[in-house]
Amino acid sequence: MYKPLEIKENLYYVGVNDRTKHLFENLWPLPKGVSYNSYIIKDEKTVLIDTVDVCYSDVYFRKIKSVLGDKSIDYLVVNHMEPDHSGSIEWLVNRYPDIKIIGNNRTEGMLEGYYGITENILVVKDKDELNIGKNTLQFHLTPMVHWPETMMTYIPEMKTLFAGDAFGTFGALDGGVTDAQLNPVSYRDEMIRYYSNIVGKYGSPVQAALKKLSGVAIDVICSTHGPVWTEKEHISEVVSLYDKLSRYEPLEKGLVIVYGSMYGNTEQLAEVIATSAALNGIRNIVVHNVSKSHASDIIRDIFKYEAFIVGSPTYNNKLYPAMESLLSALENRNLKNRFFSYFGGFTWADATQKQFKEFYEKMEFEIVCHPVAMKQSLNDEVFQEAGQLGKTMADRLNSGEKMNPQKIVCH
Ligand code: FEO
Repeated sequence: MYKPLEIKENLYYVGVNDRTKHLFENLWPLPKGVSYNSYIIKDEKTVLIDTVDVCYSDVYFRKIKSVLGDKSIDYLVVNHMEPDHSGSIEWLVNRYPDIKIIGNNRTEGMLEGYYGITENILVVKDKDELNIGKNTLQFHLTPMVHWPETMMTYIPEMKTLFAGDAFGTFGALDGGVTDAQLNPVSYRDEMIRYYSNIVGKYGSPVQAALKKLSGVAIDVICSTHGPVWTEKEHISEVVSLYDKLSRYEPLEKGLVIVYGSMYGNTEQLAEVIATSAALNGIRNIVVHNVSKSHASDIIRDIFKYEAFIVGSPTYNNKLYPAMESLLSALENRNLKNRFFSYFGGFTWADATQKQFKEFYEKMEFEIVCHPVAMKQSLNDEVFQEAGQLGKTMADRLNSGEKMNPQKIVCH
């Protein structure tokens, strides 16, 4: 028998943990699992906020019963239709046929498209309100955080924000549910990985949503994934983290070096550059082998740190395939505001310099000189050049001077 988990008076957590799936969206590894969060508000009307992945409908139903017993649910608020949250809607409607579903006009079309639901839908507009007794539901449309229908629901009497995917993180809830009940520090890297990979493309819409919420008093943030944020210090940390990430501002000083290498020659260049950067005072250095590290970890680190250098062999007259894929992911996410440089290896014809140049010309980066091109293997001359690149990058980071995106400082 489940015991209802009350976050605050008349607000209950009924979400579930998923430690079974290996890949979120069938793409992104879940080494620490993930939670799908759902909430019940008990008032004159009973309200359920979002649902859970359909694989967990059974557990979910038992949790709902533990809060409500045989009482019915008046409203289901659908802040987001992605199936990790909407997956149990059809199931819910079958058990609670009188339930009214609240969403916006975009939600309405998706309810029909995904689940064939066309009735008992209350369509709300931005800033609409619904009184449920002592409390009021206020609806704030926040399109593209992370789908076009996404919205947030705010209860002013509880100063509680149901934020959809915003402020969410990978990582199942190990024991507690609120930040006061668990160790929030352990979620930081997974929050950055979640943001950069899942929501990272939508920096401007996230900024627009943050602006919209800037005057709103918030005591509790109930996201759809990860801890419920209840402590002032943590709320301001997660809001600031999302603010920085969505402005594509690096979070920390440091350098990421990502390389592809078939036989270890380009890898040696990466090692020389990393050593040189370390010897010149950079402490946060992360080196990733693009064939081994998961792209989601590399993308997280590139969002986290202020500089990155990429290296690749020439492969079929192009970049190494895994490197091409990484650059495409960064371009897709509109990454900007980074110090950037590159290095490449080739055996008979170099394609890397041209391809990396084509990449950075599309991005708002400051290019740090000089990129290195190596024929076949590391000789003394290339060793010097690689060492110099590591030093130049370190000097640039240590200078503390403002970044100048699109300024090409080497020729
Ligand atoms: Fe957690 Fe965009 O779904």
